Amino acid sequence: MKRIAIYPGSFDPITKGHMDVIERGLSFMDKVIVSVADYSRKHLLFTTEERVNLIKNIYRGNDRVEVDKFDGLLVDYLDKKGINIILRGLRAVSDFEYEFQMVLANRKLNSKMETVFLTPGEEYFFISSSIVKEIASLKGDVSRLVPEVVVQALRKKFNY
Ligand code: PNS
Repeated sequence: MKRIAIYPGSFDPITKGHMDVIERGLSFMDKVIVSVADYSRKHLLFTTEERVNLIKNIYRGNDRVEVDKFDGLLVDYLDKKGINIILRGLRAVSDFEYEFQMVLANRKLNSKMETVFLTPGEEYFFISSSIVKEIASLKGDVSRLVPEVVVQALRKKFNY
């Protein structure tokens, strides 16, 4: 049986930190499905389509990484896919409370779901999509934080 994990998130936009988590996930899973949350509630820079396409662009040709989107409850989406493993990155103590809350909420909603936390390399500890957007909005260099396709997409959004 294939081991498949769902890596859910906003990915607004995907960063090298996310990519490090995906790579680590692939070291013990057969496939990682990167699932972009199709929200309207949160204030996002990129549309769902744009976020999905950026990730697809990065992993084109890699058949162990699939890109998808979901709306509604994460546990319902996993259930529909017949998958019970959620992959999440955990950077620092500050991530912990939110992530812990999410695990407990998801478990209350569906007791079969398990969340696997992976810690990115320490060079990626400070990267977050919010930091990347802030730097890019001030026309700073984000090329060490995100892959080239994302650099270009940010430049287009912020006209620089
Ligand atoms: O990258 P993010 O914003 O930290 O990702 C959060 C995400 C999308 C994984 C989380 O908000 C989520 O699962 N949303 C779907 C709605 C849901 O299932 N909520 C209940 C669990 S908290």
